[in-house]
This record gives sequence, structure tokens and C-alpha cells, in this order.
Amino acid sequence: MIYFDQAASSFPKPTTVALAMTEAVNEYAANPGRSGHHLAQRANKVIEETRKKLQKMFRNESTNRIIFSLNATTALNQAIEGISWESGDHVIATSFEHNSVRRPLERLKLEKEIEVDYVRPGENESEWTSIISRKLTEKTKLVMVTHGSNVTGEIIPIDLIGKLLKKHKAMYCVDASQTAGVLPINMTEMNIDLLAFPGHKGLMGPQGVGVLLVKNHVTLRPISVGGTGSYSEDRKQPKVWPEGWESGTLNTPGIAGLLKGMEEVEKKGLSKIFEHEKMLAFRTINGLTKVEGVRIIGPKGEEDRLGVVAFFIEGIDGQEIAMILDQHYDIAVRAGLHCAPMTHDLYETTDKGVIRVSFGLYNTESEVDKFLVAINEIRDGLLE
Ligand SMILES: Cc1ncc(COP(=O)(O)O)c(C=O)c1O
Repeated sequence: MIYFDQAASSFPKPTTVALAMTEAVNEYAANPGRSGHHLAQRANKVIEETRKKLQKMFRNESTNRIIFSLNATTALNQAIEGISWESGDHVIATSFEHNSVRRPLERLKLEKEIEVDYVRPGENESEWTSIISRKLTEKTKLVMVTHGSNVTGEIIPIDLIGKLLKKHKAMYCVDASQTAGVLPINMTEMNIDLLAFPGHKGLMGPQGVGVLLVKNHVTLRPISVGGTGSYSEDRKQPKVWPEGWESGTLNTPGIAGLLKGMEEVEKKGLSKIFEHEKMLAFRTINGLTKVEGVRIIGPKGEEDRLGVVAFFIEGIDGQEIAMILDQHYDIAVRAGLHCAPMTHDLYETTDKGVIRVSFGLYNTESEVDKFLVAINEIRDGLLE
């Protein structure tokens, strides 16, 4: 089969991921951090090794401030809900935000009376910074930016925005769900306070692990409290990182798998992965622009972009195309709306949705060519 739904979850995973998970389940996945015996210690060692790898890849100040969660959504909820909000606080976010950012912000708007400005994308990098700069006020407590659009593949200049925010007290949180494992992210150099992403997309890990990296100066209220394996006599949640923010048993097999996924990404190298996925996107766009009635959403030029391409065909329902691709051509894509409703508003595709094809490190040019043949045949079959 051809799997072009990598932006939702990467597939297949490196074989080392499943092997490491099987090994964890069969050989050592006792409760990490809860007991002193050697199995628990072995589980803990793998978890700490994964934190170290994450710190090295994303340059957070301390491994202790790397929190494992279920997915990007729980990591983002912890980041956003963990801030001490007061009525009148102001947030700047982008119109590319996923619902895992938008919905927590919308809830805070209602419950805490915060104000949120969702800014439209800049035409170029410097326009992004001037748009955000114009919205910054004394009340701005958080600037929330998704690094790459999960609908259009557009890349947002998080480094320039970080530089701009050096002069402002607002916290800077980046949603790297589409870019972790694809683009370099250096929290220190980019001035990022909070960085969230899932393990199951570009980092090639299994589903069930998300990550939030938090700078040392950031104060964050844990969104869930409970067993931490430490200070058990205390009625209050211990303020010890990371366990105070990781109540409950961690997903040891999942984290062991993530470690192997990250090793594979390191072995391939971020720039090779990025260039490969970008090349597949350009090849797709080139082919699609020759198909009558195709409209591509988002960047179409030579600029850097992720391996995510969105389009629709005038007069044909996208869900029908996705169904034919799946059932007749064994090609998996995603059609409809993609959990980022403001992006669809921006490109006026809320009513019809789009077909999204998204690439990963194992996809090939010949797969793209087969997809383009299929699209041509489907279009001709349905319209002529
Ligand atoms: C930009 C963005 N943010 C957040 C998420 C949520 O990720 P998860 O499903 O791991 O919670 C996604 C998933 O598609 C995404 O693309």
C-alpha cells in the first residue's frame, strides 16, 4: 500500500521501534520510579535516556523539565492550562493553530475571560514578526505558534518570533507537532519557553507518547495530580520536576519505542529528511497543477515547506476521491477538515474540505507518480 497520511501519524515505523517495545513488555516494563528493584530501575534508565536524547535534540536547559504525556494534545493542554491566568490576560496565536491549541484557548476565553488574537499568516518571514509585534501589549502573557501547518505545510519562522519576544515578558510556546523530527529546533537559541510535540509523527515513535519541554524559569500548574512515586506522605502534589507533572504510571514501552524512533531520525539526519519530504511535495504539486480543476491550498512556489500538500478538485467531493484512492488504488490520504478550522476559514475550504497528502522519510518518488496517475484517472472517470 501507499501511505500518504504521515501528518496524522507516521507509518511504517522503523523495525527497531517495535523490537524495543516488545523487549520492554517482555523483559523489564515494571513501574518506573515507583520501586527500587532492578526491573523498575531498568525501566527508569530507558526513560531517562530518552529524556537525555530529547534534551540533546531540542536543547532544553534541563532533562528534568521534559514531561512525558499521552500525545501532543495533552502536552499542549498542560502548557496552556498550566499558566496562571487572570481576567484580561492576552494571548497571541496564529490562524494555523490545531484544535489542540484553539479549544483550550477558547475555553479559557469563556472561563477566565482572557483575550485571544489569532493572527493571519505573514506573506514572508519579516511580515510574521511585524504582525505579531503589532499585537503585543503589556497584557500579552502567551504567544502560541504552531511551527508548521498540518493543513498546508507552511513553515512559520519560529526563530524570528523568538528573537522578537526576547524583549517582551510574554511566554513563548511552540507546537512542533508537524516539525519535530523534520526541522531543527533549538529552544535556547530560538528563545522558546515551552515546546510540545507527539512522539508518533516525525520522531517515528509509537502512539501513546507526547512530550512537553519546559524552560527552568517557567512556572506551570500540573493539570493532573496524583501518584508520583515520591513524597507519598504529602497531601499536596510535590513540586519536583519531572514527576510532579507526570502523575501516574508512564508508558515505558512507548517511551522505549520513541527512543529508537529518534535514533533512526538522527541516523538519517534532519536535513536529509526535510529535503526528501520537500522534494516529494514539490513533485506532487508539479503533477497536480497539470490536472484540470485542481486547486492547491497554501504555498505553491519554491519556498521551504513541509511534506504536506492540500488540494481539492472543482466539482468532485474530496471524501469520494479519498475513498476511491483507498479502495481501488490502496493509497491512504486524508480528506475533509483537518482539526485546524481557522486554516480552512483562511483558505475558504470549510464547506468542501481538502484532500491532504503528507509524506515521511520512507515514501518515494514512484509512490507520488502512482498517486498522480490515480488522481488523473479518478478525475477523468468522475467528470468525463
Ligand atoms: C499541528 C498539530 N498540533 C497538534 C496535534 C495533535 O497531536 P496528537 O494527535 O498527538 O495529540 C496535531 C495532530 O495532527 C497537529 O498536526
